[in-house]
Amino acid sequence: MKVQLAIAIVTIALSACRNSTSNSNASAPFEAEVDSLLSLMTIEEKAGQLNLYAGSWEFTGPVPEDVDNQKKFENIKSGRVGAMLNVITAEGTREAQKLAIENSRLGIPLLFGYDVIHGYKTMMPIPLAQAASWDAEIAKSGAEVAAKEASASGINWTFAPMMDIARDARWGRMMESPGEDPYLASYMSKAWIEGFQGGDLSNKATIAACAKHFAAYGFAEAGRDYNTVDISMQTLYNMVLPPFKAASEAGVASFMNSFNEIGGVPANGSELLQRELLKGAWNYQNGFVVSDWGSIGEMITHGFAADTLEAGYKALTAGSDMDMEAHIYENSLEELVSSGKISEEILDDAVRRILTIKFQLGLFANPYRYSDVEREKSDLLTKENLQVAREAARKSIVLLKNENNLLPLSKKGQSIAVIGSLAADKDVPLGSWRAQANEGSAVSVWEGIQQAVDNKSSVTFAQGYTLTKGRRQFVYELEFVEGDQSGFADAINLAKKVDVVVLALGEDCWQSGEGRSQTDIGLKGDQLDLMYELLKVNRNIVVTLMNGRSLAIPALDENIPAILEVWHLGSEAGNAIADVLFGDYNPSGKLPVSFPRNVGQCPIYYNHKNGGRPTTNPHDAGMVFWSHYTDSPNTPLYPFGYGLSYTTFEYADLKLSSSEMNQADQITASVKVKNTGMVDGQETVQLYIRDYVGSVTRPVKELKGFEKITLKPGEEKEVQFTINNETLSYYRADLSFGSEPGKFAVMIGGNSQKILTTDFRLVD
Ligand code: NOJ
Repeated sequence: MKVQLAIAIVTIALSACRNSTSNSNASAPFEAEVDSLLSLMTIEEKAGQLNLYAGSWEFTGPVPEDVDNQKKFENIKSGRVGAMLNVITAEGTREAQKLAIENSRLGIPLLFGYDVIHGYKTMMPIPLAQAASWDAEIAKSGAEVAAKEASASGINWTFAPMMDIARDARWGRMMESPGEDPYLASYMSKAWIEGFQGGDLSNKATIAACAKHFAAYGFAEAGRDYNTVDISMQTLYNMVLPPFKAASEAGVASFMNSFNEIGGVPANGSELLQRELLKGAWNYQNGFVVSDWGSIGEMITHGFAADTLEAGYKALTAGSDMDMEAHIYENSLEELVSSGKISEEILDDAVRRILTIKFQLGLFANPYRYSDVEREKSDLLTKENLQVAREAARKSIVLLKNENNLLPLSKKGQSIAVIGSLAADKDVPLGSWRAQANEGSAVSVWEGIQQAVDNKSSVTFAQGYTLTKGRRQFVYELEFVEGDQSGFADAINLAKKVDVVVLALGEDCWQSGEGRSQTDIGLKGDQLDLMYELLKVNRNIVVTLMNGRSLAIPALDENIPAILEVWHLGSEAGNAIADVLFGDYNPSGKLPVSFPRNVGQCPIYYNHKNGGRPTTNPHDAGMVFWSHYTDSPNTPLYPFGYGLSYTTFEYADLKLSSSEMNQADQITASVKVKNTGMVDGQETVQLYIRDYVGSVTRPVKELKGFEKITLKPGEEKEVQFTINNETLSYYRADLSFGSEPGKFAVMIGGNSQKILTTDFRLVD
């Protein structure tokens, strides 16, 4: 009798939840619905919502045979799982959802998470490349396409955007990051979140986003993935956290914490980051924090928790709401809460956050709304989606060098040899973290060029070098080919006969991404040898450089007249590269990371501190007692913000509306920018500020604004920036945010090094 009554109440409450989910106000937190559901849940069911399982068996098939998977299967059915990752397709997610809906007592729907990093089927450029566009509109459109495709395939939650500041090219995950600067990273991350979430999670073409990795994962010592992080509070607050704060303000649905420790505390166990900052000072209430894969369990390996119970205790009390595949919560929370070691309020807070997102996604109204076989057939890899990918790819290309205007090439009358295995590669451009991209589905450079020229017989191809051998997969180490020059002769013969060589050099896409740190950031294998051989017979060489990190390429800079940084550009790579090679698109990208001269300079970044001995005194020329290398300049090969165009821009007349301001005031900085070349062009005008003296030392410059302008030949525009108290504020020794009176430099230019400078005073 009692059981029947309970079931009746549950059914009524749940049907109330289901009927109420067409809430028109997407930001409403569904408080009443969540509370009413929570009041029905047992501790076991609540703890269950905090478990995120990876799917590793066929859902449409029979019950899995191995014991571990059988257990997972039974746990989903009994309501002890809240979310799954890596379960894909409309059919697969529907079957998994059915297990929870049809078998568990409360039928609470599962979330389906997946790494939709830069596309689902249609690949946009890798995030680092997108950041080179400095263009929120295209970043947003790309994320919209990714959300549309993924949601048609049953996914309702992406583990993106990644907003880790990356200063060290040895770190393989630089490719997923928006680069080295917090202002640009915040700007790009907000755009990606807007694109994924569309401002309305109840729209079934949008998905919940995830700000990761919280925090400082990009500061792994020596660029070695998963390594210890030792970072000052000032660097953490001023450099690393701004994009995360921006993500919280943008209403991101979730955060993912990180594998690393900060100040001796693994991020999963960090009360400072999760409780005090995110859920406290930033007042992040309507979303949840998920751990990274297994990372709650790794607190034991870090030496921060003795066993499963302690790891579960430390992670949940610190504010990690969901356990991705560590199975620590599954094996500790019921006991911790039942014994009173963790209060039920803490558990409720985590469950509330997860249920809120489920309500916002409309999953209670229809748990199968994302598993739409028809949409999956019609919405993936469409012409429109590919068009967005091409546009994003064009905008991400950075022109690094163009001596004697070798570029753009001509579509007719010029004979072209396309050389290099990367030129014909249809897989590498898809990049690492490529979700469900079809293997080998990118347009190659060779194909793009063939499609662009008027007469196909004017272009020829030779492979030249081979970069890798053996299996090329997300989870395995790559093997490189060394010392095989069997393809050189053909390439040299072709190069001899043509007007210009397009030489594709760079990295395989599986050289970057998770677990792919390198101590060598040059060009692997026989690439440089081939380049030198080709130079002997033809000096008109254009290099298209494909890579997922900043590379050390001094030999290219010295010897090659034209270099295009083309990253891993996604599905439409070859077409976009051809657009730029032939001048249908005038390159406008600017580097989001400094390019070092050699690996020894890493980490290298433009917004560094001055130090006490930044230069040598002219009287002491030749003496060593200043901060430098004896075998390399300090400066990067190409600085942050750098990128050329087929036209040129001149900056003049940097002016301030006043030479003084107080904290309640603001001043305007203006500069005139003129197109001094022969073609239309787009320039990204960048504003940097320096605070000369602080209670805590300040960087030599920091990006504080930028504007993209398009100018016709001879046209001039005045660009204005407003500087106010916030522009000048930073987190000080006591972590308060504010400005300090004194002298400030204002620097404006087309990159972080070539700038006009003036100054003003901030007065009390
Ligand atoms: C580990 C990675 O660090 C994280 O970024 C990713 O989202 C998860 N694995 C899930 O694949």
